[in-house]
Amino acid sequence: MDKMKIVGGTPLHGKIYVSGAKNAALPLFAATILSKEPQVITNVPNLADIKSMSSLLECLGVKLASEQYVKGDYKSLKYNFDASGINSVVAPYELVNKMRASVLVLGPLLARFGEAKVSLPGGCAIGTRPVDLHLDALEKMGAVIDLDGGYINAKTKNGRLQGANIIFPKVTVGGTENIMMAATLAEGRTVIANAAQEPEIQDLAYYLNKMGAKIEGAGTSKIIIDGVEELHSAEHSVISDRIEAATYAIAAAITRGKLDILNATISTLEAVATVLTDCGIMIEEIDNGFIVDAEDSIIMGTDIMTEPYPGFPTDVQAQMMALMATANGASLVTESIFENRFMHVPELMRMGADINIHGNASAIIRGKNRLSGAEVMATDLRASSSLILAALAGRGETIINRIYHLDRGYEKIEEKLSACGANIERIK
Ligand code: EPZ
Repeated sequence: MDKMKIVGGTPLHGKIYVSGAKNAALPLFAATILSKEPQVITNVPNLADIKSMSSLLECLGVKLASEQYVKGDYKSLKYNFDASGINSVVAPYELVNKMRASVLVLGPLLARFGEAKVSLPGGCAIGTRPVDLHLDALEKMGAVIDLDGGYINAKTKNGRLQGANIIFPKVTVGGTENIMMAATLAEGRTVIANAAQEPEIQDLAYYLNKMGAKIEGAGTSKIIIDGVEELHSAEHSVISDRIEAATYAIAAAITRGKLDILNATISTLEAVATVLTDCGIMIEEIDNGFIVDAEDSIIMGTDIMTEPYPGFPTDVQAQMMALMATANGASLVTESIFENRFMHVPELMRMGADINIHGNASAIIRGKNRLSGAEVMATDLRASSSLILAALAGRGETIINRIYHLDRGYEKIEEKLSACGANIERIK
């Protein structure tokens, strides 16, 4: 298994180009199931999760072809899809188990074919992450759902889903995406109340509307979808990854350096930018991105609580905790979205961080001026990136094990960081 070796202590300086968003590309890929006409998706990041979703679509009978897309010194992937020949509605355990977002094929399969058999996603390191809200909503739309042998067996009563009024009892990104896609081909109107408002939801709605769907309100807590008979060809470019952008902004902050974060949209990162500015870090919007300057910063501790968008993103909580471990004073971090998203804490403590977890939702961090390098273990995607950040600021050498977690969501992270002065290398 690959490891990452990092020698900390160098302030980062330079430019980092943010890639297309993993959490936008995955639902966009699932949406290609909805039409038998060819689809094109560009600015796709080269990530393990994208390969997993591609394998799942191929397993259903979708034909995919990808090619490198180069614009200046920015590279990405362009994918062509042909879902006219789908010959299976089964998403098998061995594929779904590798990536929970596979459950996003459930809504599109039901909408287009009237049936689907999708393995129940297992839990993962950060929590049980059930899909009950997805299933309850699909039942309201007329699906008959039977859980058997670890699979979701879903069928529509008379071959087509019916529009319905859905009120999510708690905000769910995947649930909102599954229902929005399912509703595009349902009979009549679907209204989703308490919908997730993430930029990735807006991006998905934008693409679906280009395919001929009738969706209004994406990006607000109320989304209205009027079903249509069929969806057509469309081309779409994936929005840039706000979580990756936030991670590199914190890399500049924790190393007391200065980075231009490019291909990034600061408006999708308001909550993070506000917190970093409050901590004493200079953030300035520029064309095509923003500058993070912490060279002269005295970084102060602060309190954060993760919330659904536009609140502070749970996917940046671990990275923020690494920064707070090197700030002046104490910080309180409250994780309100997932029940077990502090797996990075014991690893950060091995590097000298002073952190106390209270219950399973809050942690007190008492900042220290230097962390020290150590051998640590990645446990999940965002925890891995928080260990990278701590290592960049730590004194001496850090070895991070199990970095396959990292490769799920960060494209070429060691190349992007070493181009800005980081002493980081992947050990095969
Ligand atoms: C998406 O996961 C993201 N993944 C996650 O990013 C992100 O952390 C999460 O949204 C929250 O923003 C993708 O977009 C592929 P949820 P998702 O449904 O859709 C509970 C990363 O690091 N819940 O909004 O699975 C659930 O257990 C990943 O890139 C139910 O109880 O998240 C959680 O506590 C990690 N029942 C909360 O809701 C359900 O049916 C939010 O989950 C669905 C969810």
